[in-house]
Amino acid sequence: MIEPVRYSVEDGIALIVIDNPPVNALSQAVRAGLAAAIGRFTTDGEAKVAVIAGAGRTFIAGADIREFGKPMAEPFLPDVINMVEACAKPVVAALHGTALGGGLEVALGCHVRVALTSTRVGLPEVTLGILPGAGGTQRLPRLAGAPAALDMITSGRHVGAVEALKLGVVDAVVDGDDPLEAGKAFARTMITDGNKGRRSCELDPGEKDPALFADWRASTKKSARGQLSPMVAIDAVEAAFDLPFAEGLARERALFTELMNSDQRAGLIHAFFAERAVAKIPEAQGTTPRDIASVAVIGGGTMGSGIAVAALNAGLPVTLVERDEASANRARGIVTKLLDDGVRRGKLSQARREQILGRDFSTATDYAALAETDLVVEAVFEDMDVKKDVFTKLDAVARPGAILATNTSYLDVDEIAAVTARPQDVIGFHFFSPAHVMRLLEVVVAKGTGADVVATGFALAKRLKKVAVRAGVCDGFIGNRLLNTYRKAADYMVEDGASPYEIDAALVGFGFPMGPFAVGDLAGLDIAWAGRKRRTATRDPRERVVGFADRLCERGWFGQKTGRGFYLYEDGARRGTPDPEVEAIIAAERKAKGITPRSFSTEEIVKRYMAAMINEASKIVEEGIALRPLDVDVTMIAGYGFPRWRGGPMHHADRTGLASVLADLRQLHAEDPFFWEPALLLARLAEAGEDFASLNGQG
Ligand code: 3HC
Ligand code: NAI
Repeated sequence: MIEPVRYSVEDGIALIVIDNPPVNALSQAVRAGLAAAIGRFTTDGEAKVAVIAGAGRTFIAGADIREFGKPMAEPFLPDVINMVEACAKPVVAALHGTALGGGLEVALGCHVRVALTSTRVGLPEVTLGILPGAGGTQRLPRLAGAPAALDMITSGRHVGAVEALKLGVVDAVVDGDDPLEAGKAFARTMITDGNKGRRSCELDPGEKDPALFADWRASTKKSARGQLSPMVAIDAVEAAFDLPFAEGLARERALFTELMNSDQRAGLIHAFFAERAVAKIPEAQGTTPRDIASVAVIGGGTMGSGIAVAALNAGLPVTLVERDEASANRARGIVTKLLDDGVRRGKLSQARREQILGRDFSTATDYAALAETDLVVEAVFEDMDVKKDVFTKLDAVARPGAILATNTSYLDVDEIAAVTARPQDVIGFHFFSPAHVMRLLEVVVAKGTGADVVATGFALAKRLKKVAVRAGVCDGFIGNRLLNTYRKAADYMVEDGASPYEIDAALVGFGFPMGPFAVGDLAGLDIAWAGRKRRTATRDPRERVVGFADRLCERGWFGQKTGRGFYLYEDGARRGTPDPEVEAIIAAERKAKGITPRSFSTEEIVKRYMAAMINEASKIVEEGIALRPLDVDVTMIAGYGFPRWRGGPMHHADRTGLASVLADLRQLHAEDPFFWEPALLLARLAEAGEDFASLNGQG
């Protein structure tokens, strides 16, 4: 077994190396090892300065998240860090990779911090539902001031070494790739100069600026959307200004413990591990992903342009094929605009923009242009005949071994694959709008799709900095099938008496960034309308059909793009206002059906919406469309705005209790036996006293 913390002495410098792959997390063994090493250094007459560095790809990436929710074993991290800081001889932290959370807190307890240029530092605890609990909220404001500390701690963002130097988080930035060498070099200068560094705990944080804290609370409350940790973290930072260091530490610890015991922490940790577990798919075993060095996109509308930009941003050259010159030029215009937005937001350099437009991006109207491409993503109109035509052409020109992907939202990928002579190369890559921003990629596996093609989808997602979820073929796959179901639950409530605005407000209160009707307006109501028309012929006669959305579409009200949908968007406004005419149209529909409207409380709206989502998700898992409940959770969080701190619908169902969800469904079943038929899987788990987590495996 490797020692998780190694101690050696070289030229009067103690080298303390943390070696706990893959990310040097601060497990109990590491904390104990670090404490022992510092104890040894203290009494080691040979060593004048110590350097703490990480072995492998990174410094310390934080506390060991797997230990969360379990009883903590000694030594506790704050004590170990206090011990480092109290050391009479100087300790240098030599940073590389990512120094995050407890990892950065160890560094803040050292007397000097040296970072390789490529290092990123951060306190991402709030994203896990907690706050920096090992002195970070007390030491960072003393080193970097309140504005920088509030920014880093409430956002959890990773800060590059150069910015960290400017902020005062690190003391020196060094080019190179060996942190231990960098640390040793700095330590040698300390021995020569007699520089002892400084203890952060002894620095004066300065006067508190109450207005700064008030502003920060107001803006964080808005952006946190019900998530507690960023708000509580502000209280902890404030303690650095209100209390002496030791009392501030105690306050931080108390707040940390409160958050550690919260449901939100459990939800966010579930989301963290679920996002990594989704990559554990059967196809990952024994296959090698195909090399992707070039991409072609067919259709440069909303999705095609966004997909092209996502690939270009990842350094892949893209050929975009459109129907005619005019459409190709329009697509080039959209791509240029998206790149310009990236430059404006500081996400893309001007030089890279020029390189993309001059060299990496091209448009064409002839499919021959993609003959040598490794991956083709089709994003033409959502129409089976059009898609089949495109895939027939692709089959004729694409090189053998090229991957042919469709971005269809709902259509049968097996049927599309069947028009080609190479179904093993055909797959669904379902991106989300805007495709260069949204993190989710549904990898839709058809009957004949090759395992290596599936694995390539996951590798591509990683390259595009997206999270891939494996889905099987059905109408809408995981996400849109769920969307269709919970949208119906919302429509039924509206027809029975709720207003779309009440529904949206209830779901925003639950933690969604927008409610379903506002989302419909944003996506374009015509898309769902086309879907409803397509399904008319095959619709089960028992299904309750609601017509008010069709009435809006018949008037040409497609949402934001037409200036009105469920909401009014005056003068191009992006936020809509409620529209009394829409309420009148809905009232007329109710009247025509003889429905006497009744009121719905916020709780009832949320209960029905969630019950519909959880029930359909159970069917999706039962049918194998999603591999595990956690795949549904990640789909909803990364693609549909489900509040991450609730851990996704399946985790939320577990927290609510499956027996209670089943009881709700059984009650609703009496009202509409077709829509509210409880899923067999849900009923089985609830009756056995089990939960969805039991199906997630070790993930
Ligand atoms: N604890 C336990 N396991 C961790 C971990 C952690 N802190 N961080 C990462 N891992 C595991 C992952 O689960 C994954 O395991 P797997 O291979 O079995 O799926 C493996 O390490 C590699 O992780 P990634 O796939 O995420 O690797 P990347 O190279 O893409 O990213 C990273 C590396 C940037 C370090 C990323 O893993 C990350 O952001 N980790 C979390 C960092 C974090 O939030 N730290 C704060 C922890 S809370 C804390 O410190 C509390 C303190 O204030 C008291
Ligand atoms: P869009 O209408 O904006 O763009 C479609 C583009 O395809 C048009 O520019 C059109 O000129 C081009 N096109 C049509 N036939 C073509 C052909 N034979 N060869 C080359 N180009 C052709 O449509 P949008 O919204 O981009 O959707 C595209 C696909 O992505 C659809 O399948 C849709 O279901 C899916 N999708 C849409 C999402 C959305 O939010 N809009 C989200 C996820 C998937």
